[in-house]
Amino acid sequence: MEHSQVSTQVFMATAQTLVAGSRGLLAMDESTPTCNERFAALGIPQTEDARRMYRDWIVATPGLSEYVSGAILYDETIRQRTRVGVPFAKAVADAGIIPGIKVDTGKESMAGHPGESVTEGLDGLRARLAEYAQMGARFAKWRAVFTVGEGLPSRGCIEVNAQALARYAALCQEAGLVPVVEAEVLMDGAHTLQRCGEVTEAVLQAVFHEFYTQRVALEGLILKPNMVLPGTACPAQGSLDEVAAATVRCLLRTVPAAVPGVAFLSGGQPSELASARLNAINVRVRLQMHTPWALAFSFARALQEPALEIWKGKQAHEGAAQRALCHRARCNAAARRGEYKPAMEAGGP
Ligand code: 13P
Repeated sequence: MEHSQVSTQVFMATAQTLVAGSRGLLAMDESTPTCNERFAALGIPQTEDARRMYRDWIVATPGLSEYVSGAILYDETIRQRTRVGVPFAKAVADAGIIPGIKVDTGKESMAGHPGESVTEGLDGLRARLAEYAQMGARFAKWRAVFTVGEGLPSRGCIEVNAQALARYAALCQEAGLVPVVEAEVLMDGAHTLQRCGEVTEAVLQAVFHEFYTQRVALEGLILKPNMVLPGTACPAQGSLDEVAAATVRCLLRTVPAAVPGVAFLSGGQPSELASARLNAINVRVRLQMHTPWALAFSFARALQEPALEIWKGKQAHEGAAQRALCHRARCNAAARRGEYKPAMEAGGP
């Protein structure tokens, strides 16, 4: 089905808004098992109500919309209400933030491909997207994951995940939602910065090839890739400049100019390092290699982690946790402008 002109205009305008200025996305769409894992590590009860309270104070954070343009919700959350009885998508929109939703149903191990996974969730997706749109979601995320190792990722893994990303993206646009296309090359392993660059390039080439084949409108999507980084066990961790150069080079080789924005995932990087690297990327783009698309953030852990550690499930800690969340959002918005400075972490300007 071809998109109507009106719905095309709607999702393209949403994509532009998500990456306009220096704001970025807050990924708060951890699945229940992942959220529970993070709660368990801090002794927070792993209950539906605790997850609801957590998402409740995040959305109520004063001033968050100054730095955050969109928030990605999880299925459980979008069906819940805040403590004052407002459905979450409405609470997000009322806060001046565009509500989004995670629509993949997680990764499964891939048959015949030991150590690799394929992301599922296409069955029934058209109906689920219509329901989420009706609930107020205006964009939708899907995450494909690639492991780097000897002979990995395989061609089969890259192609099957790229095809699924294109099928999901086309369905989102049909429903008037912006696909936020997450293709994550994992940091686990001892691989070099250069190898991550090669793998990321191969993955993104395959993804945009499938987008072309499956008639995904490039003007109406946001790409959510990893930064090009060495594996966490690689002895050479690379300077900020090296990471920025490798990341921008990889994206210039693969991402068509019609795409409005790139919003990086954080992937388990320490929060302050993620901000410093996002800053280095934007400084490089401003000074040397101009890019046609915005370079923004769509972080989960690098925005939430310090705040979650303060909250620890205690209502009395909510204000301090909100301030920590807002601080990270402010640092990352500064990084988008190339104005982040480590002194900001000590409460500086
Ligand atoms: P991280 O920023 O923690 O990598 O999470 C991004 C995300 O949306 C994972 O799907």
